[in-house]
Amino acid sequence: MRPLIAGNWKMHGSLTEAASLAEAVQAGAGGAAELLVCPPFPYLVPVAGKLSGGAVALGGQDCHAAAKGAHTGDVAAPMLRDVGARYVILGHSERRANHAETDAAVRAKAEAALAAGLVPIVCVGESEAERLAAQAEPVVTGQLDGSLPDGFAAAGGVVAYEPVWAIGTGRTPTEAEIAAIHAAIRANLKTRFGAAGGGLRILYGGSVKPANAKAILALPDVDGALVGGASLVAADFLAIAAGV
Ligand code: G3P
Repeated sequence: MRPLIAGNWKMHGSLTEAASLAEAVQAGAGGAAELLVCPPFPYLVPVAGKLSGGAVALGGQDCHAAAKGAHTGDVAAPMLRDVGARYVILGHSERRANHAETDAAVRAKAEAALAAGLVPIVCVGESEAERLAAQAEPVVTGQLDGSLPDGFAAAGGVVAYEPVWAIGTGRTPTEAEIAAIHAAIRANLKTRFGAAGGGLRILYGGSVKPANAKAILALPDVDGALVGGASLVAADFLAIAAGV
């Protein structure tokens, strides 16, 4: 399957920086990997303009579970679709922690994304305490069971494994640890969705840099990366993509 290298810009940058980052990513696109950028909401439209006609995909960082309504400050999945997004990141650990998003809430959002024609990228990952207690695998598979909607596989949904303790810290699990969790995710997807589960992309996220990307992306069942900090520097993001 074609690897996906996704940039989660989180709450970073200005309008000018978003536009020039999008331009630089677009200019460097064309390798084996599919590229995706997920800017903050206010920058989706200008970034879509910069990406217009090119191969780099656009995504949101969250959506509401409802298609419309009285939800001040929220953004609906059809709105993301309307401005050209093809993907939406859901259940990122920062949203699970900062906005108390449960697995059920993530699943409802993923259902809304599917209904709007967006591909959900559902994030899962254990805390450091859970890893130290040897609970990483059951935590992750439990999150999958609770967060993925039934239509996930048919829509080509993406899972992103992001150990919470590896996000923005410069620390990563060992290659063996990443491979073990990705194998567990693959097994879970196959059990749940049958053969279709074997074709879904599983991304690794958490301190992916040009220096470690090639080795991580070569691991079995690692079908791409969800990149935070390094996606804010076009050269780094493109170097990561070149590692597939
Ligand atoms: O969603 C990507 C992210 O959480 C990883 O962030 O900065 O560790 O690459 P970073």
